Amino acid sequence: DSATRPRVSVIGTGYLGATHAAAMAEMGFEVVGVDQDPRKVEALSAGRVPFFEPGLPELIEKHVASGRLRFTTDIAEATAASDVHFICVGTPQQATSFAANLSYVEDATAAVARNLTHRGLIVGKSTVPVGTAARLRLLVARHVSSSIDVELIWNPEFLREGKAVDDTLSPDRIVLGGASREAEETMRTLYAGPIGAGVPVISCDLPTAELVKVSANAFLATKISFINAIAEVCEAAGADVSVLADALGHDVRIGRQFLNAGLGFGGGCLPKDIRALMHRSKELGAHRAAGLMQQVDEINMAQRQSVIDKTVAAAGGSVLNRRIGVLGVAFKPFTDDVRDSPALNVAAALHLRGAQVTVHDPEANGTARSNFPTLSYATTARDAAIGASALLVLTEWPDFGAVSPDELGELVENRVVIDARNCLDAARWSAAGWRVIALGRETTV
Ligand code: UGA
Repeated sequence: DSATRPRVSVIGTGYLGATHAAAMAEMGFEVVGVDQDPRKVEALSAGRVPFFEPGLPELIEKHVASGRLRFTTDIAEATAASDVHFICVGTPQQATSFAANLSYVEDATAAVARNLTHRGLIVGKSTVPVGTAARLRLLVARHVSSSIDVELIWNPEFLREGKAVDDTLSPDRIVLGGASREAEETMRTLYAGPIGAGVPVISCDLPTAELVKVSANAFLATKISFINAIAEVCEAAGADVSVLADALGHDVRIGRQFLNAGLGFGGGCLPKDIRALMHRSKELGAHRAAGLMQQVDEINMAQRQSVIDKTVAAAGGSVLNRRIGVLGVAFKPFTDDVRDSPALNVAAALHLRGAQVTVHDPEANGTARSNFPTLSYATTARDAAIGASALLVLTEWPDFGAVSPDELGELVENRVVIDARNCLDAARWSAAGWRVIALGRETTV
């Protein structure tokens, strides 16, 4: 029955929704995933995932087969067939400002409210500016039929792309914002698996829950921009930022993670989330927070420019008609995602300066090509390097660490490699006759 075994609907089947739906099915619940896009629904129903996410196709296939998981475009039918409704749609950056576009979240929430046929719990998972959930409660009240009992709470998601399945099945913490005792009980039933395994539950008010998520991403972004700022000092002073980061990381109060200097952060989350926080902080009069986020963003974007400048300098002052080989365009390894990818951004900027850019990425050639068709795409690192005036490593796929500098050296005009992720073994490359230009470290000749 619905009290002990709530049926679940998940609205939006992107990275967040598709993974959450599959995870809920894995935890034993009956789940329906809803998306407006019939092609996505058709693909997912056949166990195909329209993006690269390790382990997810297997999990979806397993539970479509087990009968616990299905997908539909019909939100009315899905709402009527479920008790708990997760809002997992996107909150992209607005086209004309740094604010988040909340129209998908508002539309999805209103649609669930309108289609409720019986008592329901609406659970927001999307990343939203603080204060959104309180407004959504008013929206729900306007759209729901007055005889139906409904509650809206916030339960932010912290999954990383590339590790989405693991992060969802065993999260670091479960945050429940604005839940009544009854809603909390329902959520504890749904998450009984991870809670039983010791995952802490933090119950709080709505704005705190919304802001936990936003500040987690803001902190991670700040850590990256911090080390990139220190990398600038290292370069000027002849210090080595990688050794420095290792030494810093031994202090458990600091920690080694998210201290890799380089091309900076990208993807569908960190960049737009810090900008949305900047925008929201200004609205709230929290100007110091807005200023901090602005600095984090500026430092991050400056890394891209710095790699472009180093490439132009290495090519003798201009890249016009020069061949440039680029290894990596995904915003990070183990994904095919190129949303706000620093790597694709740099490759595209060099192309716009007249370079002939050939790119190789183990997974993201296809998504990059549909975003930027005028670059050339190679199926191997070797093919990307042929005849290049400089080789750029822009995403730290482990494959690139295994590339042979001797073999590539035969193909590249003047052996210059710009290691924008500090991921190559500089000594090995320079022993093979390469000039290795890194970030926050001295150039190895
Ligand atoms: C990020 C957060 O890590 C998740 O916790 C969060 O749930 C998610 O956003 C979200 O809001 O949905 P994700 O965007 O998948 O996850 O990527 P990260 O692994 O955080 O990497 C972000 C960027 O930072 C990448 O471009 C990566 O290359 C860069 N990075 C990371 C660095 O430049 N240096 C580092 O040391 C670490």
